[in-house]
Amino acid sequence: MPITTCIFDAYGTLFDVAAAAREAAEEPGNEDLARVWQKLANDWRLKQLQYTWLRAVIGDHTDFWEVTQNGLDWAMEASGLESPELRERLLQLYWELSAYPEVPAMLATLKQNNMNTAILSNGSPEMLSGAVDSAAIGGVLDDVLSVEDVGVFKPHGSVYELVCKRFDCDRSEVLFVSSNGWDAAAAAGFGFVTAWVNRAGEPVDRLPSKPAHILSDLTTIPNLAEGL
Ligand code: LAC
Repeated sequence: MPITTCIFDAYGTLFDVAAAAREAAEEPGNEDLARVWQKLANDWRLKQLQYTWLRAVIGDHTDFWEVTQNGLDWAMEASGLESPELRERLLQLYWELSAYPEVPAMLATLKQNNMNTAILSNGSPEMLSGAVDSAAIGGVLDDVLSVEDVGVFKPHGSVYELVCKRFDCDRSEVLFVSSNGWDAAAAAGFGFVTAWVNRAGEPVDRLPSKPAHILSDLTTIPNLAEGL
C-alpha cells in the first residue's frame, strides 16, 4: 500500500536532545558543566528513557516532564553537579530544544506531496507545544500526538494505535520515523513501515522486529515515502 502518513518521534528525532547540555555548557559560569556535559547529556537521556520503560512495566504512569526532571536529577548527582540554577537552566533549554537543521524543509516537502504529517511522542502536550513553537514547525504538521491520550509510554502498542485512529489509516500506510532503535523496532512489530535515523552509527537493537530502513539523517524521508 502507498504511504499516506509520515509520523515522527520527537525527542532525538526532530529535536536534538543533547542541545540543552551542550548550549548550557557554553554559557559563562557553567564551567563545571563544560567539563562533563557529554556524560550529563547521555546519563540524562538514558535515565529519562529507563524511567519511561520502568513506569510502563510497573503501571505507575506520570508525564514525560516529570521523568525528564527525574532523569536530570540522577544525571546531575552522578556528575557531582548540585546547582539549582543550572538545573533550572537545563530544563528551560530542554523546553525549547532546537530542531535538526533539515527538519523544516523535509516536513514542508512532505506537505507539498500531500502526506499527512504528525509527531507521536512520549512528550506531554505542553512540552511538545513548547518545542514545536520554538522550532517554528507547527505549520507543516497536521497534528502532535502525545502518549498522554493513552496514559502509558512507548513502546506500548496503544501509543502506535493513536496514529491509525487519528488518520483513519491502515498500519501499512504509515511511515514511522524514529532515531530510537527500540522505538523503530517496536513500531515495525506493530505493522508500520519504519525508518531508523541512526545518526551515531549504532548497532541495530536485538529485538523481535527490525526497522525496514536505516538512514543517517532525515533529508531522504520525502523520497523514501514517495518511493514505497
Ligand atoms: C519521544 C521519545 C521517545 O519523543 O524520544 O517519544
